[in-house]
Amino acid sequence: MTEKKRYLVTSALPYANGPLHIGHLGGAYLSADIFVRFLRLTGKEVVYICGSDEHGAAITIRAKKEGTTPQAIVDKYHASIKSTFEKIGMSFDIYHRTSAPIHHETSQDFFRTLYKNGEFLEKTSEQYYDTKAEQFLADRYITGTCPKCGHTDAYGDQCEKCGSTLSPTELINPRSTLSGETPELRETTHWYLQLDKYEEWLREWIENGKLNGQQLHDPNDWKNHVLGQCKSWLDGGLQPRSMTRDLDWGIDVPSDIPNSEGKKLYVWLDAPIGYISATKEWAANNGKDWKQYWQDEESALVHFIGKDNIVFHCLIFPAILKSHGDYVLPINVPANQFLNLEGKKLSTSKNWAVWVHEYVEEFEGRIDELRYNLIKNMPEQRDSEFTWKGFQDSTNNELVNNFANFVNRVVVLTNKYYDGKVPDFNPDQIIIDSNSQTDTSFHDSELLALHDQLQDLGEQIRSYEFRAALTTLLGISARGNQLLQFNEPWKAIKTQPETVKVVLNISLQIVAALSVASRPFLPFTSDKLRGLLNLPPIEDKGELTDLLSNLSEGNPILAAGHTIGDPIHLFTKIEDSVIDAQVEKLNATAAAVGAANGTPYEPIKETITFDDFSKMDIRTGVVLEAEKVKKTKKLLKLKIDIGAEQRTVVSGIAEYYDPEKIIGQEVLLLANLAPRKLRGIESQGMILMAENEKGELAFVQPKEAFGGGFTVK
Ligand code: MF3
Ligand code: ZN
Repeated sequence: MTEKKRYLVTSALPYANGPLHIGHLGGAYLSADIFVRFLRLTGKEVVYICGSDEHGAAITIRAKKEGTTPQAIVDKYHASIKSTFEKIGMSFDIYHRTSAPIHHETSQDFFRTLYKNGEFLEKTSEQYYDTKAEQFLADRYITGTCPKCGHTDAYGDQCEKCGSTLSPTELINPRSTLSGETPELRETTHWYLQLDKYEEWLREWIENGKLNGQQLHDPNDWKNHVLGQCKSWLDGGLQPRSMTRDLDWGIDVPSDIPNSEGKKLYVWLDAPIGYISATKEWAANNGKDWKQYWQDEESALVHFIGKDNIVFHCLIFPAILKSHGDYVLPINVPANQFLNLEGKKLSTSKNWAVWVHEYVEEFEGRIDELRYNLIKNMPEQRDSEFTWKGFQDSTNNELVNNFANFVNRVVVLTNKYYDGKVPDFNPDQIIIDSNSQTDTSFHDSELLALHDQLQDLGEQIRSYEFRAALTTLLGISARGNQLLQFNEPWKAIKTQPETVKVVLNISLQIVAALSVASRPFLPFTSDKLRGLLNLPPIEDKGELTDLLSNLSEGNPILAAGHTIGDPIHLFTKIEDSVIDAQVEKLNATAAAVGAANGTPYEPIKETITFDDFSKMDIRTGVVLEAEKVKKTKKLLKLKIDIGAEQRTVVSGIAEYYDPEKIIGQEVLLLANLAPRKLRGIESQGMILMAENEKGELAFVQPKEAFGGGFTVK
């Protein structure tokens, strides 16, 4: 990585149109938070910028859905997103918003400058107009059939099924989402950024990292998928892109520009400028100069985003910055791909999501467990997946059994043998057998090994390899565990007390190193470790760099005689029932949304063979008994008579059926499904349910079913 003295780091400004889900965190936020926390630990000047994106169709569409005004929407979600970010430990220097006056001014100034520089092309074209709603339709207000894949609900700008970028006039059978009517084409005039004119320098900058012959960055530092997407845009040929819209929500085109009436800035013009206005606001509040970050070559600009934002941050915004003049271009745009959830795409509208504010409430005090799992599964190079089971496993196996276990053993033993004081030892007297034995003493070589691990971790973060860096972090505690396992101080204390002093001394140094190195990933744990070790809170002033130079000189972090605190629980195991409840909740809320919309909420699954199908043993049965499972909302415990035997079945239908009313109900039972325990009750099969024409959950009726075709009641 090209090192700079100063860093301006941004995370994509989330639309203030809904709460945050884990896909957001794993996409543009945790990665940036690790990066900035690390840079601060290395003593760099860093400012980390984010804020709410409060314009664009995303907001007005949501307002319409909730039956309220765009202003009410942005106020509500800005506040909620901001507070969720705080709770999850995001270390923004400022969380701003694009409705702020300073942002309106800054964006209008930008527009004016580009206008005066002659960067715009004023062009009249035909655009879709909804005569009923009396307005031009933003791309997102038009749906129709995708010309590429035939998906019937593609948007005017993009097909979410095949991922193609579209323009509204390409859609087959366009419909207005405002009125449902077929829109008509009308003439309108807009200002276009002539991206086609910048193609050459953009290509040179993307492919070679050079601008006007000057090397600005090394393109090898950029992720392949980011470069790939940029190149394919460039290869496809860039078109002039309109920087204004006919809308009533957004930033006005400055009134001193002729024909500006009724025109608003395109949201993708104003939003990235939000990074600049937020920096201005932060600088004003902190006695700093914003220009040092945006207009000085000693400053590196890094944009963290999700892959759907690549073209805006790698081509369009750089083109805007350069057209304006005087601004630095990003040194890197380490975009992440997408995080899926339990095998499916995260979706706000289908409620297929883990909402961060709900997690924070339900898993109080367990923020780092979520951060850990999301970093472990970060979609750095390709799409990845969050599963509740995986979350349980990473918590129990890695954080509890490895990390917390190591720290706990060290703290317990230190308290037990040395009254909580870091033991002193005489290096000359110790000769111990260790797998890391080198020609230097054992203690020295372990300190050096620790130094090297921390060094690797830093290199990985610098190269945006956060998953690898997290593995390195856990490698540090794993090495500590090995050390204990190998030397068994709990036995050796009787026979080789001098050796135990060395082992625990080095172990304590490792814990101290972890209190610093864990900070970018697990900030709450880092705080706890500092407290536990009686070390001063980290002030983000180069502590990691100091640590590395101390270690390389063979200096310990904790002096002999330093007193530590009592053991604490850093992490605790997550029980099966907790995970089961989350999976159940996820399925139930998604099913409820699917039912409410009257549409299947899932695409058709992969084709199965007849053999697959014939493995299912479906029996007719009758409900003999039904009762609610205590302390659940959704579960009924049923006894089903299938003739030859009776089965106990736990079914998630309590929200739809009263237990009394379904006694005697005829059902179809999948009788050879592997039994599964739900809330301590073994469920021995599954009742087949379907959606009726109203989208309600219904029993599949055996009589009609076997009489010809399934019917539902
Ligand atoms: N709001 C956009 C999204 O969620 C991201 C805007 S990033 C910015 O996709 F650069 F425009 F701010
Ligand atoms: Zn498509």
